[in-house]
Amino acid sequence: MDILQAEKAIKELTAKINQFNDEYYEKGECSVDDTAYDLFMSQLIGLETSFPSLQNPDSPSQRVGGLPTEQFENVRHNHPMLSLSNLYSEQDLRNWIDSVQSKLEKNTISAVCEIKIDGLAISIIFKEGVFIQAITRGNGEVGDDVSANVKTIQNLPLKLKKEVSLELRGEIYLPKEKFNKINQFKIKSNEPPFKNPRNAAAGTIRLKNPKTVAQRGLELLLYDVVDGRDSLFHSENLNYLESLGLPVNPHRQKCSSGEEILQFCTDWQNKKKNLPFDIDGVVIKLDSLQERQALGFTSKSPRWATAWKFKAEKVTSKITSVENSIGRTGILTPVANLVPIQLLGTEVKRATLHNYEQISRLGIHVGDTVYVEKGGDIIPKIVGVDITQRPEDAKPLVAPIECPVCHSQLIKEKTDVDLRCINLSCPAILQGTLEHFVSKKGMDIQFLGSSIVRLLINEGFIKNLVDIYNLKEKKDELLQLEGFGDKSVNNLLSAIETSKTVPLNQLVYALGIRHIGEKAAKIISITLGELPALLSLDKNTLEGLQDFGPIMVESVFNWVQNEKNRTAVLGLIRAGVAPKPVLISNNRRFEGSTVVITGTLSQSRNLWKQRLEDLGFKVASSVSTNTDYLLAGDKAGSKLKKAQELNVTVLSEDEMTQLIQ
Ligand code: IVH
Repeated sequence: MDILQAEKAIKELTAKINQFNDEYYEKGECSVDDTAYDLFMSQLIGLETSFPSLQNPDSPSQRVGGLPTEQFENVRHNHPMLSLSNLYSEQDLRNWIDSVQSKLEKNTISAVCEIKIDGLAISIIFKEGVFIQAITRGNGEVGDDVSANVKTIQNLPLKLKKEVSLELRGEIYLPKEKFNKINQFKIKSNEPPFKNPRNAAAGTIRLKNPKTVAQRGLELLLYDVVDGRDSLFHSENLNYLESLGLPVNPHRQKCSSGEEILQFCTDWQNKKKNLPFDIDGVVIKLDSLQERQALGFTSKSPRWATAWKFKAEKVTSKITSVENSIGRTGILTPVANLVPIQLLGTEVKRATLHNYEQISRLGIHVGDTVYVEKGGDIIPKIVGVDITQRPEDAKPLVAPIECPVCHSQLIKEKTDVDLRCINLSCPAILQGTLEHFVSKKGMDIQFLGSSIVRLLINEGFIKNLVDIYNLKEKKDELLQLEGFGDKSVNNLLSAIETSKTVPLNQLVYALGIRHIGEKAAKIISITLGELPALLSLDKNTLEGLQDFGPIMVESVFNWVQNEKNRTAVLGLIRAGVAPKPVLISNNRRFEGSTVVITGTLSQSRNLWKQRLEDLGFKVASSVSTNTDYLLAGDKAGSKLKKAQELNVTVLSEDEMTQLIQ
């Protein structure tokens, strides 16, 4: 790359990173995920290192964080909150240890390794044993006073066991379970979900209402004392914090060789999935505070500590072309064809680009070298782009105007990130709708797989759902189709006949109403009793359904009002589709309720657990705001106290027996 190309790339990267920083510090949420952000930043740093003359004094690479928001009072830190340098390989680690040892003129090392929690850094001040203030990192010099919100964090004592004054540092994070719950709720309310627990924690700490913060369930782990303690060792400091009743990062270990440090890092790479919260690496810190003082700081980070970043399961490949596909709901999904690469043992040739908003945020061009990741999902995704590898003639990827299948104009609603085909007769939508309709959880029609569905659509046999039930009148024509014999046609037609009496909840699910999954379909079906009742379903009834938010109510109501859908339902009824009513099982009627068992009971705790779980209860081990009941036997202690504080219904064994009978 020559200097002119580097200049262009640096400009582009700077603009993007500045935009993401603004989003993050103004809204508490950034439009690309951390991986994409880090990838852009590392390219910028790489280019600035190769072309030092192009480094701008106000380049985003020179900042520790960003600007503090105006929303909270800005407070100057007594001690700046710095960042850490990163290590990505064993060699990096060895070099770091060597440089530390040579600066200290010794050939041993005494370090403390700690897991690196992926949340947001916080500075916490206690005065004479009482919590006084909590400040976010902000730009490292000035942060936001978020004391009211931090006070809601359950595991932070607001009074210490001793009347000491301390300035502490720690990480606020959202446990994975809480994150999933919040996102489920957001999706239900048609709000965009948080991208990851870190963003959720950052968004939460900036909320104006501490009550909402309290409900979200943030947690805190401390990892440093920056003022108020004259000890010689960091490890001692952390033990001292624990003795005061403070929550301290429990996964820490003293290490005295490169091998031990490396072992700690690789162990946690493998064990991180078992933790209830996200971690993104290991922090390695010198234990001796005198040694720390001797080493000091660079302008951005301490020389006495560094972060080992976990290897992301990520590879690079080149985009050869992009295809747009239309799913059952009409959403257009761009999928990149890639030069085949190996990723976690499988060959990857295609990866999703999610939507055109994501494409433009990342600035993807055809021919770009991109980073491909396989997260928890089965489908690989493109998480970043290496703009330094961009071919000269590469063209930006532009969103299509028309549906690639039926050529009708694509629509994008204001609040939506997706482009959508809204032509209900679009063959791609029909294909997706039919595949969903006949699926196992839906009408469960065997012998009607996606290739047969496609054939029947293409040959004009099926134009809508009802046509499936009219196929029996076209037996002779079906027999003319390639690959169809007497046996296969009979099998297909009899599977179609059998499907007419599936339970009603399967049919409601099969209709593919937006926002209505299996559980919601069951709730609707219990209320309906029989299929014709669907046509007279009103808003009042829908609003009264358990767990139905306004988005679901609106979605079902609009679906039922739509003429085409009404015709389809009537057509199904006329064709003899008569689903079985859903049996209301009394067995799991406490599904969704959480109970905690405590104290000495007359029957074994396991027996109670079994009995309650059979009724649908979730039996949890600790009392929280999510607990609905506490089953309390004799000598109930701290759990009873907590339940009373949180207004949880406390039941004796007799009372519980009455409730479940
Ligand atoms: S020590 C001078 N210890 O990682 C900074 N940081 O990339 C000393 N973090 O800003 C930080 N867990 O927000 C330290 N056990 C841990 C940590 C930790 C998470 C975060 C923290 C810091 C960032 C540095």
